[in-house]
Amino acid sequence: MKAVVLDADDRFHLTDLERPVPGPGQVAIAVQYAGLQWGDVLVRRGHFPVPRPFVAGFEAAGQVVGVGADVDEALLGRTVTALTGGGAFAEVVIASAVLTFDAEGLDPRTAAAFGWATPTAYDLIHTVARVRSGERVLVHAAAGGVGTMAAQFARAAGADRIVGVVGDAERAAYAAQFGYDRLITRAEFAGDGDGRFGEEPFDVVLDPVGGSTRLASLRRLAPHGRLAMYGALAGSAPVALDSDELLMNGRSALSYNSDLLSRTHPERLADSARHALRAVAQGHIRPGITAEYEMTDLDEALGRLAAGKTYGKSILRVAPHLT
Ligand SMILES: NC(=O)c1ccc[n+]([C@@H]2O[C@H](COP(=O)([O-])OP(=O)(O)OC[C@H]3O[C@@H](n4cnc5c(N)ncnc54)[C@H](OP(=O)(O)O)[C@@H]3O)[C@@H](O)[C@H]2O)c1
Repeated sequence: MKAVVLDADDRFHLTDLERPVPGPGQVAIAVQYAGLQWGDVLVRRGHFPVPRPFVAGFEAAGQVVGVGADVDEALLGRTVTALTGGGAFAEVVIASAVLTFDAEGLDPRTAAAFGWATPTAYDLIHTVARVRSGERVLVHAAAGGVGTMAAQFARAAGADRIVGVVGDAERAAYAAQFGYDRLITRAEFAGDGDGRFGEEPFDVVLDPVGGSTRLASLRRLAPHGRLAMYGALAGSAPVALDSDELLMNGRSALSYNSDLLSRTHPERLADSARHALRAVAQGHIRPGITAEYEMTDLDEALGRLAAGKTYGKSILRVAPHLT
């Protein structure tokens, strides 16, 4: 089968590999489209040590073409979307049956764009920050894959005001279609005098950034406000939080790690993913697909993602016309 492998030269090469076989609890999926995400960039940078050559790609949509021991054979031929531990940039990927979801009726591009970002956004809003009706939510990286989905889930949960933080005006124009009440730039967030940019304190802040943004976000929380930390886009230097200050102001710092959850409590992640997928299938939540690449263009595609030049979701065309 054709696969794109990350080799020792840190570049992606289209090559032929033996087709993988599903083990117990696993399925083999003939991939139509794969989603691109930050994890692919981190793997390339060596942040997650993997043996080279390595087939990256952590989210795939396609049809089940094989099942391992203990997996229901009724899955064969079903159209699915799967969260994988790699391997999605290939004609066939192996996925855990628990993290493979029925996507019958959903177009395969949307199913691939669902990826880890949609269950993450769902969990941030519903199981971590637990957004209530009438609350005020601030979303950092608002034009990104998670941010655009989180804004929609927050609105559906009844959030009253949703403010997004983006890199520049162009990204604000893109993010505006996802229901934000207001979009501000990172410079506005960081630079304003009273620390409030004309907004009342927030009940919830979603923070994949870290560093000084994390501390500034905590200061913008209302009493009983929740900071949901889920990434370190600004770098992983430690950020010291003052627990006494949190306590005295009734603020909480929470974290979320979907990769860890997939290993410790895969059923919990699966449950959230099914809720999120239902919202997408019913048209309540929409992934924004802005770029589609051929397998030969993966190097360029991930270069653009790494350079912050993408909006919403990028997907990879693997074998779109499987039937
Ligand atoms: N913990 C989890 O379970 C989990 C799950 C999924 C993703 N993540 C993490 O969440 C983050 C966002 O994921 P995503 O899929 O939404 O990525 P994405 O679609 O690539 O969007 C990320 C956006 O972040 C903004 N950004 C980049 N560098 C920044 C910086 N230094 N400071 C502030 N903003 C910056 C950029 O937009 P602007 O220029 O408009 O700001 C960029 O487009 C990534 O770090 C990812 O690894 C975590």
